[in-house]
Amino acid sequence: MALGEFLQQLDDLAGDADTAFSTATDVGQLEAARVEFLGAKSGRLKATQKQLGSVDKTDKPAAGKRFNEIKQRVDGAFKAAQERIASVHVASEATGKFFDTSLPGKRSGLGHLHPITQTIEELKDIMGRLGFSVADGPEIEDERHNFEALNIPLAHPARDPLENFYLATAKKTSPDVLLLRSQTSTVQIRVMEKTPPPIRIISLGRVYRPDTADATHYPMFHQMEGLWVDKKVTMADLKTVLRIFATSYLGRDVHVRFRPSFFPFTEPSVEADMSWGDKWIEFGGAGMIDPNVLSAVGYNPDEVSGFAFGLGIERLCMRRHGITDIREFYRNDVRFLHQF
Ligand code: FA5
Repeated sequence: MALGEFLQQLDDLAGDADTAFSTATDVGQLEAARVEFLGAKSGRLKATQKQLGSVDKTDKPAAGKRFNEIKQRVDGAFKAAQERIASVHVASEATGKFFDTSLPGKRSGLGHLHPITQTIEELKDIMGRLGFSVADGPEIEDERHNFEALNIPLAHPARDPLENFYLATAKKTSPDVLLLRSQTSTVQIRVMEKTPPPIRIISLGRVYRPDTADATHYPMFHQMEGLWVDKKVTMADLKTVLRIFATSYLGRDVHVRFRPSFFPFTEPSVEADMSWGDKWIEFGGAGMIDPNVLSAVGYNPDEVSGFAFGLGIERLCMRRHGITDIREFYRNDVRFLHQF
């Protein structure tokens, strides 16, 4: 190869390398340019070095000298680009603007709904198919909705300060005595006060009682209230709805039994138990709405009748998943919560 041609090739290479290294803006482009010009196997410098052998013997010293100069120049351009990109990286990492697409990503863990929230959604779904719509009520209640309208008079033990979380409100802020609701039955009253019959609702939410926490009790828990008022609603309807509910939530092999009980706002009243597998558990209270309660909200007990029930949501979820301690729901240990 003629010396002139060889030198021209070197000059072209040097010009191309300068452009490639000075325009590289990230680690990926820098590496691509390094492989193209300085690659040990098939880089352009290596290829040119091989051609040195075909230059006339007399021209070789000049060709070799020029080759070394160009090699140094390309090396220098590479190092300069490397330093420039590294400094941009450091500077912009501090400002948070640099985004190096060649770095492996960090997988961020996705959370999911709490098991009680999941249960609430499922219960709404089951009851929705039975024609129940969802109603809401406040967690801070007055005594009228939590007690009086539910036929629970002032002297009743359920109103004892030791059984409830009364709020220390100044008379100025609220003329009523307020408390954290102890049952979702408050929502029955709120709905009936506002809406003429027929009514078919459920209400799901938190209730509060100063119960000592143990495996089946917690001072804050969730209830699902159900209320159906219409002409000629009977105890048979109540039992049917609760049975359909229990088999939908747990399966066809669940057994439901009703024990006579007492609630001031229902007559007759029952306690509903279910067994699925080994033992019976109480899942809620229920009954036919007391005529006094219907009259108090302006309904005519000679024209309409109704049933109501209040079920413990944690107890249902525990039975379904074989959870043996209610406190697990509120320890917030992700190893427990992760399983649902
Ligand atoms: C009531 O709260 C009535 N309001 C239910 C009712 C509604 C009766 C409508 C008639 C008509 P009781 O206090 O039994 O009833 O509570 C209902 C359910 O809540 C219990 O069966 C149980 O499943 C759950 N429960 C009660 N206390 C706790 C607690 N401390 N922790 C977790 N669950 C509880």
